[in-house]
Amino acid sequence: MNSKDLYEDAKRLIPGGVNSPVRAFDPYPFFISEGEGSRITDVDGNEYLDYCLGYGPLILGHASPAVMTAILEQLKKGTHFGIPNKAEIKLAEKIVSLVPCAEMIRFTNSGTEATSSAIRLARAYTNREKILIFDGCYHGAHDHFLFDLHKVKSPGIPESIRETTLVAPFNDLERVKSLSEENELATIIVEPVMGNAGCIPPEDGFLEGLRDICNDNDTLLFFDEVITGFRLSLGGAQEYFNVTPDLVTLGKIIGGGFPIGAFAGKKDIMKLVKPEGKVFHAGTFSGHPITMTAGLATLKELENQKVIDKTTKYAEELAETLREESGKTVNQIASMLQIFFTESEVHTADDVRAADKKAYKRFHQALLKKGVFIPPARSECWFVSSAHSKEDLKMTKEVLKETFNEFE
Ligand SMILES: Cc1ncc(COP(=O)(O)O)c(C=O)c1O
Repeated sequence: MNSKDLYEDAKRLIPGGVNSPVRAFDPYPFFISEGEGSRITDVDGNEYLDYCLGYGPLILGHASPAVMTAILEQLKKGTHFGIPNKAEIKLAEKIVSLVPCAEMIRFTNSGTEATSSAIRLARAYTNREKILIFDGCYHGAHDHFLFDLHKVKSPGIPESIRETTLVAPFNDLERVKSLSEENELATIIVEPVMGNAGCIPPEDGFLEGLRDICNDNDTLLFFDEVITGFRLSLGGAQEYFNVTPDLVTLGKIIGGGFPIGAFAGKKDIMKLVKPEGKVFHAGTFSGHPITMTAGLATLKELENQKVIDKTTKYAEELAETLREESGKTVNQIASMLQIFFTESEVHTADDVRAADKKAYKRFHQALLKKGVFIPPARSECWFVSSAHSKEDLKMTKEVLKETFNEFE
């Protein structure tokens, strides 16, 4: 069966034919067959250079030999136990040694689970209920976070929850300051680089300002580094920008291509988590040996191979080509980037909304036809992996030139 028929089949059984909404795009998504390195092949036999990379986890590319070798070895010993395993300690130790605010860590199965458990922890630690989030940041598919400045993002969210989540524009310290003074906030949660409104780095002083506001108001500063962790630097955005939060959530890269999340922070906060403390978090699959092994293999590669330097350099080159060929705004930091079909600068989610959404969709389709897969939504980021070669980069630059020449 081809992708078109499979999509019809999937729609009969799964809402919208997909298990996560961004995967559905017009006229129908391709169905994947396999991936290796920088490339993926669909069931119709088309090959694509992949800049979506599973929405972030695959910084080493598809089927990285280091990860595959490690997990195959682990697989021989069994899959799941629900009993402590050594790989959990090794991955925890690696992360705690590299991420500045992480003195203790708890693994979860998704970023969503990590952020929702971490705000419970922040609320318990501060004995406060309200949290502040930023317009355009995404922290998972959880009731507490599905708001932006203009609307509630889903039906089904109780009114009582709306009262405890405040929203400020990204990069707007004045607004954060006034909201912090008017409300007793348990935590301010932020993606240090917004990776869910395209790619929006913080303006100079924004993260430092958040740190000061949190200090002044006994509020916990919480960085959601599910995307930026081990991407901007081995210590994440907090090391890159030299601002240490009280809590961090991680995910994506640390699972080496398997489902994961984690929350970590200062010991006095983390010690409140059950069974050491009373704050509840649990998970049948948490600390899964295959995931832990894949994550550890990935982090070891990141330490060995100067992956971050290479992926950053390639992303810079791509961003430069995109700017030159389109004349549009392109934001890039480390190995994450996005183009916005506007000539104005993009610093907030409203700036993204003002850009031409239809043009991005047409651009996505045009690249797909030429064998380059970028995220179907402009609210996601393009990612570059260490498996992308010089030839891949050259081919992509040529495709971008051709596409913009033909683009109306
Ligand atoms: C910054 C951020 N936090 C949390 C999440 C939720 O992670 P998951 O999809 O693993 O639940 C995501 C997912 O894209 C994310 O980008």
